[in-house]
Amino acid sequence: MTPGERREALEAVATEVRACTRCRLHAGRTRAVPGEGSADTEVVLVGEGPGFNEDRQGRPFVGAAGAFLTELLSTVGWRREDVFITNVVKCRPPENRDPEPDEIAACAPFLSRQLEVMDPALVVTLGRHSLGTFLPGARIGQVHGTARPPAASAWADGSLVFAMYHPAAALHQGSLRRTLLDDMQRVPGALLDARERRALAAGSADGQAPAPAAPAVPAALDDADAPDDPAVAADPAAPLPPAAGEPGADQLTLFS
Ligand code: URA
Repeated sequence: MTPGERREALEAVATEVRACTRCRLHAGRTRAVPGEGSADTEVVLVGEGPGFNEDRQGRPFVGAAGAFLTELLSTVGWRREDVFITNVVKCRPPENRDPEPDEIAACAPFLSRQLEVMDPALVVTLGRHSLGTFLPGARIGQVHGTARPPAASAWADGSLVFAMYHPAAALHQGSLRRTLLDDMQRVPGALLDARERRALAAGSADGQAPAPAAPAVPAALDDADAPDDPAVAADPAAPLPPAAGEPGADQLTLFS
């Protein structure tokens, strides 16, 4: 797909989202929030659902949680327009309640199509409901700050899923601010790993000799939360090394 075709395909999804009546959430919306950002990005961030400000503006993460998300991205040298930001449900749940399973299911084809169009190397989940979409059964307290392939039954095939707490959680529980900042520092390293996994997969599909085993995906874990999957957990104390020939993690250029 060319960049222009990708933009068009995403706009087609957005047009359908704005007219959608598939679940009860459409009745209360001011504006649907399909998502925004670069159609050519390697990194898609998936939140839970629009809040008050997003519903008014039709744009994702524009309130207080959005300001923190923009700050988080800036700590690794990324801007909002470098990534694509969307949500599991595209219309605001009343009083910002959690989205219901049937609402998530009704909206899932939109997210699935967005991911199919962009085919990102890395999907960053923001919050429990987003995590549960890609890694059903995973517990955020255990997997935040780590990346792993999505569950076989989910989408984003060929991507890595990096789990983070929702930025709004830091507004309610101050200690999570540090956790989110720390986890964010591991995202560029996870992108390098995701790229490498893709290159290896492409090599094997070409019938080339198998490359050496993929490196462990960087992991950062709370002191209290042990990794539940040692295969993808790395030493949380170890700094994330840039890959050979790559810029430092804080300068990692997207879509290079
Ligand atoms: N919270 C979300 O999960 N998504 C938004 O777009 C805004 C707040």
